[in-house]
Amino acid sequence: MVNVKEIRKDFPMFSNNPDLVYLDNAATTFKPQCVIDAVTGVYTQMTSNIHRGDYDLSHRISTAYDQTRTHVASFLNAEEDEIIFTSGASASLNMAAYGYGLTNLREGDVILSTEAEHASNILPWFKVSEMTHSKIEYISLNEKGELTVENFKKAMHEKVKVVAISYVSNVLGYINPIKDITEIAHEMNAVVFLDAAQAVPHMKVDVKELNVDFMSFSGHKMLAPSGIGVLYGKKDILEKTDSYMMGGGSNARFDMCGNLLLREIPYRFESGTPAIEATIGLDAAIDYLEKIGLDEIQTREAELKRYAIEQLSKLDNIILYNPDAETGIITFNIKDVFAQDAAGYLNSKHIAVRTGLHCAKMLVDILKTSDTIRASLYFYNTKEEIDRFVQVCSEITLEKCIDIFF
Ligand code: ALA
Repeated sequence: MVNVKEIRKDFPMFSNNPDLVYLDNAATTFKPQCVIDAVTGVYTQMTSNIHRGDYDLSHRISTAYDQTRTHVASFLNAEEDEIIFTSGASASLNMAAYGYGLTNLREGDVILSTEAEHASNILPWFKVSEMTHSKIEYISLNEKGELTVENFKKAMHEKVKVVAISYVSNVLGYINPIKDITEIAHEMNAVVFLDAAQAVPHMKVDVKELNVDFMSFSGHKMLAPSGIGVLYGKKDILEKTDSYMMGGGSNARFDMCGNLLLREIPYRFESGTPAIEATIGLDAAIDYLEKIGLDEIQTREAELKRYAIEQLSKLDNIILYNPDAETGIITFNIKDVFAQDAAGYLNSKHIAVRTGLHCAKMLVDILKTSDTIRASLYFYNTKEEIDRFVQVCSEITLEKCIDIFF
């Protein structure tokens, strides 16, 4: 069982902001002291560059950095050389789409995706399809906005070479049936690109079990600093993927005739000095999450979400868009109140939420609105916070919002 009272003591943001109810965890999360200490430890005890210096300090930092790769691999049940460090999920998704897509897609090939995707999981494919003359098709979502295996089967055909989908939608919070989708995609020789930014922080993710080909996520949504992300790629698929980020660290040799020998995978994908302190912060964040247990975290968030939906459903001024979603993402509106105005009211009561289309701008037809309010939970949120949030939601009217702003 998660002892939330004890856990919150690990996060300075709570004691430094006693009035704040932070419900924007799908955007980014607070950081525990152990992560802050790990980052500070780099600055105060280990500052030097990795893999370049012939001195003890550089050896120490290189070892700590390399251990993070080992840790991420075991966290995902992957191999070490299948883990590429990037600056975040967007960089990972772009790296995979361009690196694999430009080399392997041909005119007439199809990239299959959904209208629920975050911009970072679809816009790189817009560019790749334009450059390769391949095309993008969309799997129909059901009336709730869920991706079903039946609809995926209907959308699959022999021209589909890439399936680019998320594990958990950042707006609707549904967990997509990835294992089944991957099995069908592979039977038809398509490669599966998974945006797992809203999944890895919240549940146990095993890449071997899912059998995905690529998977991306960010550190900052799972207690780590911003500036560190991960691209997982199956070794044989990475062999067929080009590296476009050239520079120091990715090459073994080059000469004035233009000959270039790249280093082995994964280093050929990592040029330049990385976010060393953020990477070591990710190591500490994974440690922290593992100590609590990802299954515990998922159970707690599902429980908090159920409680929040139960309470919100009692109000007659709320429109809920995803009451059945199993994760901690709650997307809603206040009747007759513009989402941003409602968020302004919530903010005036120290409640932090996000509004808009949350970077998933193609969802507008399913939601039938261009703006929603999103409250997103993490395991450190409490029922008391949800009570305060629900209480403030119950008060919101257009008149009260006008009073706040004018
Ligand atoms: N992708 C993040 C979100 O959904 C920023 O809020």
